[in-house]
Amino acid sequence: MAAPTDMPDNFYENAKNYWSKIPATVEGMLGGFSEISFIDIHGSKQFLQPFLTMKEQIVTGNKGRVGRSRAVDCGAGIGRITKQLLVPFFDSVDMVEVNPAFLAEAPVYMGDAAKRVGNFICTGLQEFTPEPGSYDVIWCQWVLGHLTDADLVAFLQRCRAGLREHGIIVVKDNMGSSAASVFDADDSSFTRPRDAYMECMHRAGLRILKEEKQRRFPKEIYEVRMFALQ
Ligand SMILES: C[S@@+](CC[C@H](N)C(=O)[O-])C[C@H]1O[C@@H](n2cnc3c(N)ncnc32)[C@H](O)[C@@H]1O
Repeated sequence: MAAPTDMPDNFYENAKNYWSKIPATVEGMLGGFSEISFIDIHGSKQFLQPFLTMKEQIVTGNKGRVGRSRAVDCGAGIGRITKQLLVPFFDSVDMVEVNPAFLAEAPVYMGDAAKRVGNFICTGLQEFTPEPGSYDVIWCQWVLGHLTDADLVAFLQRCRAGLREHGIIVVKDNMGSSAASVFDADDSSFTRPRDAYMECMHRAGLRILKEEKQRRFPKEIYEVRMFALQ
């Protein structure tokens, strides 16, 4: 899958510039759709929770229960997901985010939940290497469009090595409706169709344990899907 020819050299810099102008609010994180945050978090909880109990092993073939020690929120923004989804489930959560202003706002937005953040890591995912064997869950939501295909595959491979025993990577993102990935010069990102995501996951050597469509989102936004990978 070749990257579109109109993709600029300063792909990562342009995205960073775009996000530096976005307010450090839930509204900013969700492109003006803050009202979907509750449904989004609820859908994520329903998707994740069975992996933390014995139940899901039967369905997915995961050989054991996903641990609850440590998670990482990739492209974390101000910590919307860290605060509402990950902190309630995990002892410690790391946040990886390219925009320093979002990480600076995180303790304010998160309040007490910020005490459970282990590391605030200010870097692009294209440069982030999880410590091998360190995370029970690596959560990647609404950020992977900011990586090129080659960087996405390499990132997923590093994530795979970063999992603890029985750990999972979760990808939750927009699924484009065109046959090919579409580049958006405005925020310097790709909207990938499901097939393009599947190809990258496959190339990274990952297997899909579970896939689900997020329900009850407004009709005018992209279809959103969740994948649990190992
Ligand atoms: C649409 S927001 C989603 C934030 C968060 N995942 C959520 O759902 O609330 C995308 C986030 O990805 C961050 N981002 C963009 N490019 C990135 C990159 N290459 N590496 C890490 N984070 C990036 C942005 O700064 C922004 O915080």
